[in-house]
Amino acid sequence: MALLYFGLYLLALFGSVNGTDNGKSKINRRKVVQRFNPRRNATSSTTPLQVGNGNFAFGADITGLQTFSLFNTLSTWGWHNFSLPITPGQTSLDVIDFTGLYWWTHGRLVNYNQPNPAENDISDWLIQNPQRVNLGTIGFSFNGVEITEDMLENKSQTLDLWTGKISSSFIYNGTEVLVETWSDSHSDTVGVSVESSLLSTGTLRIFFDFALPTRNKFDAPFVGVFNATSNHTTTLKSSRDAAMIRHDLDATTYYASISWDRHAEISGPVKGTHRYVLQPSRGVRKIQLSTTFSPFPDSNVPAFEDVVAASKTWWESYWNSGAFIDLSSTSSPNATALQRITILSQYLVAVNSASSNTPQESGLVNNGWYGKFHLEMVIWHSLHFARWNKFPLLRRSLPNMYSRYLPSSYDRAKAQRYDGARWGKMTDPTGRSAPGEINSLLIWQQPHPMYFAELEYRSYPNKKTLESWDEILTGSADFMASYAFYNESTEVYDLGPPIYPVSENTGPNATINPAFEIAYWRFGLDIAIKWKERQGLDVPATWTTVRDNLAPLPTDGDTLSVYEGIPNMWQNTTVQDHPAMSGVFGLLPPPSSRPPLNMTVMQNTADKIRDAWDIADCWGWDFPMLAMNSLRLGDMDQAVAYLLHPLFQFDDAGYPVGGSRVATPYFPGSGGFLLAMAMMSGGWDGAEGPHFPENWDVKVERFVPGL
Ligand SMILES: *[C@@H]1O[C@H](CO)[C@@H](O)[C@H](O)[C@H]1NC(C)=O
Ligand SMILES: *[C@@H]1O[C@H](CO)[C@@H](O)[C@H](O)[C@H]1NC(C)=O
Ligand SMILES: *[C@@H]1O[C@H](CO)[C@@H](O)[C@H](O)[C@H]1NC(C)=O
Ligand SMILES: *[C@@H]1O[C@H](CO)[C@@H](O)[C@H](O)[C@H]1NC(C)=O
Ligand SMILES: *[C@@H]1O[C@H](CO)[C@@H](O)[C@H](O)[C@H]1NC(C)=O
Ligand SMILES: *[C@@H]1O[C@H](CO)[C@@H](O)[C@H](O)[C@H]1NC(C)=O
Ligand SMILES: *[C@@H]1O[C@H](CO)[C@@H](O)[C@H](O)[C@H]1NC(C)=O
Ligand SMILES: *[C@@H]1O[C@H](CO)[C@@H](O)[C@H](O)[C@H]1NC(C)=O
Ligand SMILES: *[C@@H]1O[C@H](CO)[C@@H](O)[C@H](O)[C@H]1NC(C)=O
Ligand SMILES: *[C@@H]1O[C@H](CO)[C@@H](O)[C@H](O)[C@H]1NC(C)=O
Ligand SMILES: *[C@@H]1O[C@H](CO)[C@@H](O)[C@H](O)[C@H]1NC(C)=O
Repeated sequence: MALLYFGLYLLALFGSVNGTDNGKSKINRRKVVQRFNPRRNATSSTTPLQVGNGNFAFGADITGLQTFSLFNTLSTWGWHNFSLPITPGQTSLDVIDFTGLYWWTHGRLVNYNQPNPAENDISDWLIQNPQRVNLGTIGFSFNGVEITEDMLENKSQTLDLWTGKISSSFIYNGTEVLVETWSDSHSDTVGVSVESSLLSTGTLRIFFDFALPTRNKFDAPFVGVFNATSNHTTTLKSSRDAAMIRHDLDATTYYASISWDRHAEISGPVKGTHRYVLQPSRGVRKIQLSTTFSPFPDSNVPAFEDVVAASKTWWESYWNSGAFIDLSSTSSPNATALQRITILSQYLVAVNSASSNTPQESGLVNNGWYGKFHLEMVIWHSLHFARWNKFPLLRRSLPNMYSRYLPSSYDRAKAQRYDGARWGKMTDPTGRSAPGEINSLLIWQQPHPMYFAELEYRSYPNKKTLESWDEILTGSADFMASYAFYNESTEVYDLGPPIYPVSENTGPNATINPAFEIAYWRFGLDIAIKWKERQGLDVPATWTTVRDNLAPLPTDGDTLSVYEGIPNMWQNTTVQDHPAMSGVFGLLPPPSSRPPLNMTVMQNTADKIRDAWDIADCWGWDFPMLAMNSLRLGDMDQAVAYLLHPLFQFDDAGYPVGGSRVATPYFPGSGGFLLAMAMMSGGWDGAEGPHFPENWDVKVERFVPGL
């Protein structure tokens, strides 16, 4: 049993009711946070240091800017379509020319949103478009000299997590350059201060450049290319202390509005490029500038000092609000390692994932999957905000994202002759789901709204919460009831085939009743039913019928199996991937309807995964999921071992390493990690309070206990 601070323990238990912050923190949060300020003396080849606000982020190299064009400026609103494909006969195709494929599904042909080999052009276009746009590159130029990083000496850089400031310094040709980089909290603005006598001699200038997006699925670390200048245009309008650069790429137009505080002149583009250069006048030794990116012409560029003030205020209140963990009194290096990843992850999710669209796997660092986001990942990206008592950040995207996508999700279900709303998968801001075999056959995104709704209700148990989620839950549950197929011979409701389970690597036409999906269907319907009861509304009979007659959890001997009847699962590593069976008890609470979980089976499953699963095939959020399963089974040491597993790496600035399968960063790892830390710190129903290894001295505050 961990040493408990009983006052704080009670606060962890009760302090979060109604999501209120109960007075002042008893932890010196600033001290804990600043202990982990990232420091660098060279640019990382994979990750920047970032400033940002959840909907906008600027990734800096060692110069504090993007001098070496390695990192990006990304937003939630900046997207681009390449023009539609043209057939050899010169006809322009349109999205309605995409027809998908029909697969047999329980005796009828159902249309799936899958690439059709007969219409590759439009299928590919729909997968590759729109892509997220790298809004602009801001860097130093050195009087025409081609600079490399080794030409800069004494490079040093610190990110102050408490205020959101990057301080960088380096020496060029014997002279020091000092740089500060900040982001506004309320607009998509990067604020930069540069101090150096190199400014006054004309040696040091600041450039702005604009790249064209690519059709690359993974565009990392840099997003876009500079050498297709004739495919896009930029135009400059400038005055004495401000400029606006308009960028047109096909149908996309946006603006970079720049203002500065000293005498300086902007010119460009440099021939054959979209590069503009800001040249401070003789005698200027320090210049402060702000650049606002916006889809509209915007001359309200906040001054540098206003960006600084906003950032300081926002970050201080971010760190002071909601939950917190202080492990500094525990001497074990494992505690320090968990604390480091916790603090850095908290910074990174605020910059990259606290967005109005649901977050991308590579956040606002670079483009994974063209910058599109995946609706089955929402739970890993965002559920921790609820457990950490940071509802204002969660509410930026939820429930409104689901409301926005509700009409197209009803259409998706209807086209397949199901009731309700079927949520999409790989998504862009319009709610369109990209064609794909896996994309169209995955179902575990479907009950996510129930999980979010229930956690919000836990903190805000009122009519407003019930109403804000009711339509979404109704559409979700109607689809779930109608999708489950009544099997006359077994007299239960089956899920699939065809289906891809969480692990995405079993034959879809053979996969039936996967363990996690069966458990999640029950969980989702339980909550949908409760939601109606709380409002005094009728519960649709189909919801109860399907829940009470769902196929049982599939087993293989005395463990759960990936799906019903899967052969040789424990011996055959080709079917091992995400160990989703651990999510049945790791991510989900025990069911509130019958039948109960067989705890012998749950324990056996956890043991067998630990001993016989191909752990090298686990990645990202698998480790937090396994850790949470261990926690519920009472094994805190195993939970720590999973969270600190050598295959679950975070780099020096806390970015979750993608590994061999996806690009770095892979933020579901960060969100999952924070969710597991919330579980360790706040506990869950019936086991509230901290669950850390024996003899750890732990202070925790204001967690919302899990379901
Ligand atoms: C740069 O940082 C690395 C890693 O922190 C350290 O090992 C190295 O000594 C530093 N180099 C200089 C020149 O400070
Ligand atoms: C891209 O094209 C699709 C299909 O016409 C459209 O729905 C979407 O709004 C477009 N997005 C952008 C950023 O132009
Ligand atoms: C699944 O069955 C459909 C026919 O209903 C077939 O077209 C498809 O190729 C099969 N998929 C796989 C992966 O075998
Ligand atoms: C760089 O730092 C080293 C060590 O602090 C110092 O000795 C050296 O003078 C610095 N170089 C310049 C050009 O200032
Ligand atoms: C470096 O500085 C010296 C004077 O300090 C100057 O003569 C020289 O041109 C500079 N070199 C470059 C590449 O700017
Ligand atoms: C443009 O640059 C990209 C990578 O930056 C390169 O792969 C491509 O070949 C270049 N294209 C041209 C036409 O130079
Ligand atoms: C630029 O446009 C031309 C003509 O439309 C096209 O062939 C080429 O692929 C485009 N280049 C890039 C990098 O998108
Ligand atoms: C009914 O369930 C059994 C056992 O899972 C399965 O083999 C059979 O294909 C199912 N029947 C239909 C019509 O899907
Ligand atoms: C739980 O599972 C174990 C192992 O398969 C089995 O022996 C036991 O009978 C089950 N318990 C119940 C209550 O079904
Ligand atoms: C392992 O699973 C794969 C995929 O289902 C299958 O093709 C293969 O035959 C299996 N191997 C064994 C030894 O069962
Ligand atoms: C730290 O955790 C590892 C597992 O990740 C474990 O093997 C080791 O014993 C732990 N160290 C301490 C001091 O608890």
